[in-house]
Amino acid sequence: MTDTPRKLLRGRVLSFHSEPRDESDRDAFDYIEDGAILISDGLIEAAGPYAQLSAIAGDAEIVDHRPCLLMPGFIDTHLHFPQVQVIASWGAQLLDWLNDYTFPEEARFSDQDHCTEMASAFYDLLIGHGTTTAVAYCSVHPASAEAYFTEAARRNMRMIGGKVMMDRNAPENLRDTARDSYEDSKALIDRWHGKGRAHYAISPRFAITSTPEQLEMAGALVAEHPDCYVQTHLSENHDEIAFVGELFPDAPDYLGVYEKYGLLHDKMLLGHCVHLKPREIDVLAETGAKPVFCPTSNLFLGSGLFDDAGLRKKGITNAIATDIGGGTSYSMLRTLDEGYKILQLQNQKLHPMRAFHWITRGNAVALGLADKIGTLAPGSEADIVVLDAHATPAMALRMQRAETLSEELFILQNLGDDRAITQVYVAGVSMKAGTQAT
Ligand code: GUN
Ligand code: ZN
Repeated sequence: MTDTPRKLLRGRVLSFHSEPRDESDRDAFDYIEDGAILISDGLIEAAGPYAQLSAIAGDAEIVDHRPCLLMPGFIDTHLHFPQVQVIASWGAQLLDWLNDYTFPEEARFSDQDHCTEMASAFYDLLIGHGTTTAVAYCSVHPASAEAYFTEAARRNMRMIGGKVMMDRNAPENLRDTARDSYEDSKALIDRWHGKGRAHYAISPRFAITSTPEQLEMAGALVAEHPDCYVQTHLSENHDEIAFVGELFPDAPDYLGVYEKYGLLHDKMLLGHCVHLKPREIDVLAETGAKPVFCPTSNLFLGSGLFDDAGLRKKGITNAIATDIGGGTSYSMLRTLDEGYKILQLQNQKLHPMRAFHWITRGNAVALGLADKIGTLAPGSEADIVVLDAHATPAMALRMQRAETLSEELFILQNLGDDRAITQVYVAGVSMKAGTQAT
């Protein structure tokens, strides 16, 4: 994929083949104490015991990460690129938060230089937190999506995104029109979708900010580009749901709006899904559209508790994400930590083995990309995170009492953040801390 020298990363290697129940579920994962990952041309040639791989590595550069843990890079399935300066805004719930903080900040992305500057900061933050693939909303301005994809291409990252379509219930300087949103999205799809590692996500922001005409245009885009993703928000907050009911009185429920305009399919990602009705759950199960659990955001905005077990029982595949800037951390470790607590409040359990599967292979499966990212299978793209469970004094102290891999993972998710991310490789190239080594 990239013309870089072969590389052999040495460390403790963990990767999943399927979702594990717990650590006893040995068929679901590989864990190798003295392991290694052999990388060539940006792809994983092999992952296995160090002794075995060093014998076939030839003159590959050896990078010794022992005693750290090597895993596939983390995947964040829902966040907002133009909200890097919205994160940590006090006091409001969803609709006021959008009007008071988010829309004014997103308006600043009409400026090309601002887009470029923020894109660079955004990708530094993703990498710093171990995230190598993300699905993001850009602002309404095509320039924001240009900056988003340009910077992803410069770093050779597998990224998904799109400009939001929004033509009502937002300030005038943040509204497009049904026709412009169609044409701008189409031009961005033509320019970026499938170019290098980029994928386009058709992005009607949510039912409140789109007229029926715009949703119809979004449906036309989906029909014309069935291989693009679709992303929007669903049932996050009670006032939001009531407003959708007023705007679309003929729809059976919130999801029924998106259904009517032909937006639902298995490449659709629906942020939040906190207050779903039984019919909506059935429709999600039938169409394969994916709910996205956004724990830190749901707590921060006081939105509610995501029913992971209830949806899974219906055969639905849930993704998990940060939702920056309603979410309060770029870290998928912090996201798992808050997710664990949300499930605790409902007497549901998130085992650390399942948790780390979720932010790697699990999210890759939800995106239909598990053949490319999310595992260390031969032929996968070499997006790799190096984790240090001793990264802080509190972690190091707790690690003295850890005896199992599950315990180590739980310490990482319960106490870890970007300080636990020692290094990140994107397509085999080390990226963290400004290191632009090979
Ligand atoms: N619903 C519509 N837009 C947004 C957004 O930017 N963040 C969140 N959390 N919910 C939304
Ligand atoms: Zn969102």
